[in-house]
Amino acid sequence: MDFNELSLQKRLSGRKIGHTIHYFEAVDSTNDIAFRLAHQGATEGTVVVADCQRRGKGRLSRSWQSPPGTNIYTSIILRPAISPVIAPQMTLMAGVAVADAITLYCPGRVTLKWPNDVQVGHKKVCGILAEMKTSDQGVDFVILGIGLNVNIRLDELDPAFRNVATSLCEETGIILSRLRVMEDLVDSIERCYPLFIREGFALIRRQWLRHCDMVGKPLRVVFKEDIQTGQMLGIDEDGSLLLGDGQNNVRRVTAGDASIMKDSEK
Ligand code: BTN
Repeated sequence: MDFNELSLQKRLSGRKIGHTIHYFEAVDSTNDIAFRLAHQGATEGTVVVADCQRRGKGRLSRSWQSPPGTNIYTSIILRPAISPVIAPQMTLMAGVAVADAITLYCPGRVTLKWPNDVQVGHKKVCGILAEMKTSDQGVDFVILGIGLNVNIRLDELDPAFRNVATSLCEETGIILSRLRVMEDLVDSIERCYPLFIREGFALIRRQWLRHCDMVGKPLRVVFKEDIQTGQMLGIDEDGSLLLGDGQNNVRRVTAGDASIMKDSEK
C-alpha cells in the first residue's frame, strides 16, 4: 500500500499518537515542521511524516540522509508535564520504543547504543533527535524526531556510513511496508511513553539496559574536543552514561558519541 497521508491516517486511526497526521512529499526537516506546529498549539500526539527530507538533521549538528521512497522520517509532538532536566530521558524512552518495535523484524539482533542509536547487528538503523521548548512552567513540548532506515540498500547509503549503518531490509532480506513499520513504531511509543510519564524513568532504564550490550566494555566517548575513556558501567537514574576507571572512580557523561574501543585503541 502507498505511504501517504490517507493510508497513514487509516493505519493509525484510534491511536492517541497519530490522531492528526501531517504528511509531506518533501520537507527540509520534519522536526522543524513539528516544532512550528507545536508552537502554533498542535496537541500531543500530532505526527509529522515526510517521504524525504532535504536537510534532515542529526545530533550534534550532523545531517541525516533522507532519500525518498524508502525510509521513515517522522517527528512526534509530545507535551509531557516534566521538568526540563529530565527531558533527555525522552530520547532513551524513544530508543526503547524503537528497539521493541524493530525486534519484531530482527529478533535477538537489536541493541541500543547510548544515547540515541538503535542498531541491528551493531550497525545503526535508527537515530533519534529530541528537541524541546521550555517556558517558565517547565517543558512546553518535546519533538521526538525518528529516522528509521527501512528499505534503503547498502549501496544507496552514503559511502562514509556503509560500514556502520544498515536498514531493516538489508538485515531481513525483505522489502518491508513502511506503513506497517510505522504502525509498529507508534504502538511501541504508545506503550513506552505513558509508562515513562506514569512510573518515571526507572522501568524504562531497566528496559534500556536490557537492550544494551555495551555494559562492561571499554568505551571512548567523544564530545567536541573532549575524549573520555573508561569501562561502561551502565546508565544512572538520570540517563547519563557511567564510566569507570577500574579503580572505583565513576564519571557521569551527559553528552557525546560512545563507541567500543578496539584492542589497538586501548
Ligand atoms: C541522529 O542519530 O543523529 C539523529 C537522527 C534523527 C533523524 C530524524 S529523521 C526525522 C527527524 N527530522 C530530522 O530532521 N531529524 C529527525
